[in-house]
Amino acid sequence: MRVLGIETTCDETAAAVVGTDEEGHGVILSNEILSQIAEHAAYGGVVPEIAARAHVEVLDVLVKRALEKAGTTLDQCDAIAAAAGPGLIGGVIVGLTTAKALAMVTKKPLIAVNHLEAHALSPRLTEAIAFPYLLLLVSGGHTQLLAVRGVGDYVRLGTTIDDAIGEAFDKTAKLLGLPYPGGPEVEKEALKGDPERFALPRPLSGRGVPDFSLSGLKTAVRLEAEKIAPLTARDVADLCASFQAAVVDVIVDRTRVALRLCREVAGHPNALVVAGGVAANQSVRRALQRLASEAGLRLAAPPPALCTDNGAMIAWAGLERLREGLVDDLSFAPRARWPLDAEAAARPGAGGR
Ligand code: KG4
Ligand code: ZN
Repeated sequence: MRVLGIETTCDETAAAVVGTDEEGHGVILSNEILSQIAEHAAYGGVVPEIAARAHVEVLDVLVKRALEKAGTTLDQCDAIAAAAGPGLIGGVIVGLTTAKALAMVTKKPLIAVNHLEAHALSPRLTEAIAFPYLLLLVSGGHTQLLAVRGVGDYVRLGTTIDDAIGEAFDKTAKLLGLPYPGGPEVEKEALKGDPERFALPRPLSGRGVPDFSLSGLKTAVRLEAEKIAPLTARDVADLCASFQAAVVDVIVDRTRVALRLCREVAGHPNALVVAGGVAANQSVRRALQRLASEAGLRLAAPPPALCTDNGAMIAWAGLERLREGLVDDLSFAPRARWPLDAEAAARPGAGGR
């Protein structure tokens, strides 16, 4: 099997071809990506109009390159997959419309992939992980804990009630004068800093429902920074280290509660899985590794390049859906909001406000 995947929901334009070997394991045949970070950096965040235009300009070239590098043609693909949401609607329209056009001319099935489902299934692309598992999905736009029972079968256990964790990293970086995107910058600074210098809050820790709240933590960083301004390089490093330590503590506390709930709604999980851009953070990974070992579970995390947005995860989710016979009609409409658990209450960090 071979699927072309297209990703355009945020600030990365990406196209990839993913296939399977004889045992059904995923094989990345190509994974092309063009980041727009430079175009948005001056604004300290993603500007939707700039993003949509940039996707239009490069997507056709990227698809061509992905096919060439994979040594395949569109006719040799079994399906065309594109992220159909949730995300910035202008970009989603570009990717989904391109996929529809390609599906129409080649008469191949279209698979409209939920971007969050692609993150959720991405660890299965590189490792054999059976359902059910507990998923911590932490990115720039989303923060949630989900019991993954199967393809398309998710139970949301908790989510952020305000900012996403990646967003908190980005905002903290911005207020400390570090470049965008802030996650990797804060991580780099934190390596040089003292995580105990500032006593920052651990919001919602100890609560029985594994929700997150990040806005108070971000404000606490701002207040500490204002108290000691102007900041030295040492201050910035210490603030980053203290912020990251608080985030890691919160993640561990909330995930521990979710593990218990996961057993109730999905049965004993086969793994603790972490995905999304923040999963690239080594401190977060190490802390989750300890938690998983303590619970007798395996920690699965995609390699860093597959944690942040990419085309391979869309192609892989398309392949998983194709195997289940889940294909979509050419009339499928792009979705700005699209939560994975339709039964759960609408929340900003879970695919819809
Ligand atoms: O999954 P992703 O590429 O895009 C979304 O769907 O949001 O995640 C991007 C987010 C950004 O907020 C970025 O700052 C954060 O992931 N991020 C990190 C790290 N690398 C990326 N956060 C903390 N530590 C990192 N190393
Ligand atoms: Zn993402």
